[in-house]
Amino acid sequence: MNEEITSLIREDGLRLDGRGLHELRPISMQTGVLDRADGSCYLTWGNNKIICAVYGPRELHPKHLAQPDKAIVRVEYRLATFSVEERKSPAPRRREYELSKILSESINNVIFLEKFPNGTIDLFITVLDADGGTRCAALTAASLGLADAGIPMRGMITGCAVGKVDGKIVVDLSDIEDKEGEGDMPVAMIFNTGELTLLQCDGMLTPEEVEEGLKLSKTAIGQIYQMQRKALLAKYSQIEEQSDELDEEEE
Ligand code: CDP
Repeated sequence: MNEEITSLIREDGLRLDGRGLHELRPISMQTGVLDRADGSCYLTWGNNKIICAVYGPRELHPKHLAQPDKAIVRVEYRLATFSVEERKSPAPRRREYELSKILSESINNVIFLEKFPNGTIDLFITVLDADGGTRCAALTAASLGLADAGIPMRGMITGCAVGKVDGKIVVDLSDIEDKEGEGDMPVAMIFNTGELTLLQCDGMLTPEEVEEGLKLSKTAIGQIYQMQRKALLAKYSQIEEQSDELDEEEE
């Protein structure tokens, strides 16, 4: 453990940032933030700041990658050089390749890819500020970006990490909890069906702790899913208001 930190849970039972064990950080989401992309989302989650641009479905280049029966999904997850404490080199590192792959596999499971043979759907996810839990936040932003692009999906993906800190199972780990805690378990699912699209575990958790973590993550994911719905509805009610205003002007 970091020499200056002796405990991640304070004497009053709260976490270092003042949260309860099962409390989420503040989250905000906005869709349609990039004019040039087909769909986009800007998400803040605690100190995490993530932007996601979605292009497609579109023709795939190079053509030899095309699949005659379905589209492929390409995901580029990148950390901005200034997003972490120690400056990150602009060249993608092993962790970014790995995260791009697992995010793409998760997203592959929810899109009706067979509707777009020979095509591609490309997602560019940039973490502007990182503070733990970026893969779950990235998936949450990605599904909003996909919905904003009008890409048909079996459901929205929502993610939230759980983990073990000072022997307790906590929800939504911050960077320090992720690095100094005993275990980190990122979870993502389609909330309505309960299907898992991502489940990883780094650290030591007993089978009972995994079960408790999964239960807690589902509750947290339910709360985040409602925020995703609101973010999408906000966009469409804005469009409706604008078209009402245009109608009034024309009359
Ligand atoms: O972000 P996530 O928890 O999904 O993935 P991680 O690999 O467990 O990284 C945990 C955290 O470490 C990130 O969210 C960043 O805040 C931090 N990190 C860092 O400080 N420097 C890096 N080069 C990569 C990640």
